[in-house]
Amino acid sequence: MTIRSPNDCNRTAIVVGGTSGFGAAITEELRQRRFAVITVGRSADSPRGVRLHFSCDVGDLQAWDMTVGKILEATISAKVDVLIYTVGYARVFPFGHTPSEEWHRHLRLNLTYVAESFPYLETVLSENASIATTGSQWSFRHGWPDLIPYITAKHALATLTEEYAATFPQRRFRHYCVPTMATPGYDAVRQSVIENKGTLHTLSDKSRPADIGLISRVFVTDLLDSTVTHPVTREISAAGNLKPVGA
Ligand SMILES: NC(=O)c1ccc[n+]([C@@H]2O[C@H](COP(=O)([O-])OP(=O)(O)OC[C@H]3O[C@@H](n4cnc5c(N)ncnc54)[C@H](OP(=O)(O)O)[C@@H]3O)[C@@H](O)[C@H]2O)c1
Repeated sequence: MTIRSPNDCNRTAIVVGGTSGFGAAITEELRQRRFAVITVGRSADSPRGVRLHFSCDVGDLQAWDMTVGKILEATISAKVDVLIYTVGYARVFPFGHTPSEEWHRHLRLNLTYVAESFPYLETVLSENASIATTGSQWSFRHGWPDLIPYITAKHALATLTEEYAATFPQRRFRHYCVPTMATPGYDAVRQSVIENKGTLHTLSDKSRPADIGLISRVFVTDLLDSTVTHPVTREISAAGNLKPVGA
């Protein structure tokens, strides 16, 4: 499934949230395709083999703004071919009991950090760049009241991505709704169910978490495929199948 095109040499990718979990798997997939990868994460440790790493909490919008400035400086003479946003945040609270600060955190870490940075990062993208945001199988669904802040933020992220696609028709935008995977982020969601006395509800309780390597391969392969342009929003099943979502 891995495409090894000579054209991939010397191409540059930015992965916001590329240090662990799903983002780290995507970073590794891009590295194997010979991309020079720039990562952002809270961790100070640079992931193996990446060209540049910036340590930043993207939920701290001032710090994120400064980091975006540093990324612009670093990429000024090397146009960026791929920009992937994978940072996300989810916690479970019983319906109606989500503290206000938690609502804000859900919005900052799923939506605002993308909206704040894209107008600037857009200026260093190559003409045919591919841009992806990461959603969830809940990006377009309802029915888990304890997860409403996350569902709201991911719905909005999908909509924002579709709006970008309409505004910048020369670029290739994707919003991928990915399945449950065993990551530090998912562990934190499960922990919040216990701590906040919420309920756990998955769309695929019968299946085990998806193979993170498979899902990142499908994600990157599809993102780099210039032959299919629509729709923007796609769901990746646990088995690695792609399905259009929405318009
Ligand atoms: N895992 C799942 O089951 C699942 C299911 C559906 C959708 N998703 C979505 O897929 C994406 C990736 O999920 P994941 O489970 O891999 O998430 P994760 O384990 O929380 O980590 C994702 C990446 O984001 C970075 N990160 C987290 N918070 C950050 C912050 N405040 N500032 C900067 N970087 C931050 C992490 O690195 P550091 O720790 O170094 O900061 C890591 O590199 C998310 O958007 C999530 O909503 C995941």
